[in-house]
Amino acid sequence: MQPVTIALAKGRPAKQTIKLLQAAGLTFEELDATSRKLVFYNEDRTARVIFLKGMDVPIYVEKGAADIGIVGKDNIIESQAEVYELLDLGIGKCKFSIAAKQGVTLSSDNEITIATKYPIVAKRYFSKRNQSIDVVKLNGSVELAPLIGLADYIVDIVETGNTLRENGLEILEDIETISTKAIVNKASFATRSAEIQSIINRLSTVVG
Ligand code: PRP
Ligand code: MG
Repeated sequence: MQPVTIALAKGRPAKQTIKLLQAAGLTFEELDATSRKLVFYNEDRTARVIFLKGMDVPIYVEKGAADIGIVGKDNIIESQAEVYELLDLGIGKCKFSIAAKQGVTLSSDNEITIATKYPIVAKRYFSKRNQSIDVVKLNGSVELAPLIGLADYIVDIVETGNTLRENGLEILEDIETISTKAIVNKASFATRSAEIQSIINRLSTVVG
């Protein structure tokens, strides 16, 4: 039988997630946020952790390449993956917000330009307001866009607010809160329920 595969987002969230796994008694050989390795097995090789880009975690889980994913709600929403969301891990807390240069107010005009890494989130939010928008899809440093004149507004993640402040931007509206979730592949949840439930149960004992 294949080991139960747990997909983690590498980069900034990895450290906290690994700590949580360890606290839950789930240990994997050489698992370390700074490692360049991408696959880590537990001692009896019944489970393994794989390191992916956050945005790819829900995709691996939806397709069944991973049974469990530990990933931010931002990536779950944006990927539109069909997965079960079983547990809030109480880490990675932040929010989606709309921001602009200080003094700019949110226009209700159609075709306002929004720069974002999260086009689905942005479009969904503005369509609820019956407003159509022009999205400029970026892959990072989104806060630059209003400063350089690429877009009037941004939709992005805000954690401490430091990136906005240091670039003279301010929040106009909050869209929704985000935190790290445990997600599960729908078929695995049925066929490997005992193994998966045991991992989820362990994680649930250490979340605040
Ligand atoms: C994220 C996010 C914001 C910032 C929020 O960017 O896109 O820019 O962190 O955190 P703060 O409110 O504490 O400043 P990240 O550093 O991941 O870089 P990227 O957007 O360039 O990918
Ligand atoms: Mg950023």
